[in-house]
Amino acid sequence: MGFILVTGGAGYIGSHVVKELLRRNYKVVVLDNLHKGHKKAVLTPYFEIVDLKKMDSLREVFEKYDIDAVMHFAALSTVAESMKEPFKYYENNILGGLNLLELMREYNIKYFIFSSTAAVYGEPQVVPIPEDHPKNPTNVYGSSKLMFEEILSWYDEIYKLRYVSLRYFNAAGADLEGELGEDHRPETHLIPIVLKTALGQREYIEIYGTDYPTPDGTCIRDYIHVVDLAEAHILALEALFDGMRSEVFNLGNERGYSVREVINIAEKVVGQKIPIKEGQRRLGDPAILIASSNKIKKVLKWQPKFNDLEIMISSAWNWMKKHPFGYSE
Ligand code: UFG
Repeated sequence: MGFILVTGGAGYIGSHVVKELLRRNYKVVVLDNLHKGHKKAVLTPYFEIVDLKKMDSLREVFEKYDIDAVMHFAALSTVAESMKEPFKYYENNILGGLNLLELMREYNIKYFIFSSTAAVYGEPQVVPIPEDHPKNPTNVYGSSKLMFEEILSWYDEIYKLRYVSLRYFNAAGADLEGELGEDHRPETHLIPIVLKTALGQREYIEIYGTDYPTPDGTCIRDYIHVVDLAEAHILALEALFDGMRSEVFNLGNERGYSVREVINIAEKVVGQKIPIKEGQRRLGDPAILIASSNKIKKVLKWQPKFNDLEIMISSAWNWMKKHPFGYSE
């Protein structure tokens, strides 16, 4: 068996997937440009600092390692930024990914796992959202991921590339052994910001909008533990190895929590009150995003183990207490 190439393996979700792959004795090579990722998050000795936009350096990696499959996490993923710098998002998320697909074709590699997102749906017409829900992204980030899904379906048709596209809802939590965690710079995600506020690194957590059509007026999201997410990637990869056709799956817990509920549970976890400030809506935030995850449960027999939000926040808190300044400490 050759290597699994993990692009973005120094990032939040990629690094957790690498850990799961290694635990199952896969050989893993990580490729990351360290633009957002962290060297310390890379748990495999096979690590190449390469940018996907640089075809020549990328080809050297394909030349050097015997690769059986690719898991593609490397991407820009901040919604607000994508609306300010669309070129950067299309360039990274589309061109970077295309370079990868071309090399896979050249080196005859047939299996691909893609990090997609709930942002491909836009404002949902029904919740929980099934995979065949209309796709109307409300931002460039979601649009770039949707376009790449379409490219994948053509590579399947033309070259028999077998892929699984996983549409994540809100990834949360950290490795249960405290070895890996979430460290985005700047941090934009709710749970780490709430916990940083508890640590005293921020004065308050600003709630983006309290006038949404939800029971407490704040946005509702479906949080999924990053370890459960990682497990789904392995199931998807192994299903492809076993001959499954290309598939698209949602990954969430089919249960929504409002921003206020998240803060309340975090207060319970950290054992203190967390100061809040009620602010304006953030551009492009849908009111409610909840996944239907029926399909992946049925087809891949995926079963989340840590679907309790308190467990997700506790694991994030354990990591953050040990690493208050992320990977730089
Ligand atoms: N929020 C706040 N205050 C903050 C940060 C977030 O109130 O300081 C709110 C947001 O408005 C949202 C919820 O908390 O309602 C969750 O926000 P996150 O930024 O943590 O996550 P998003 O739901 O915006 O984003 C996630 C992924 C994206 C993906 C998107 C799909 O991180 O990559 O889901 O909609 F595109």
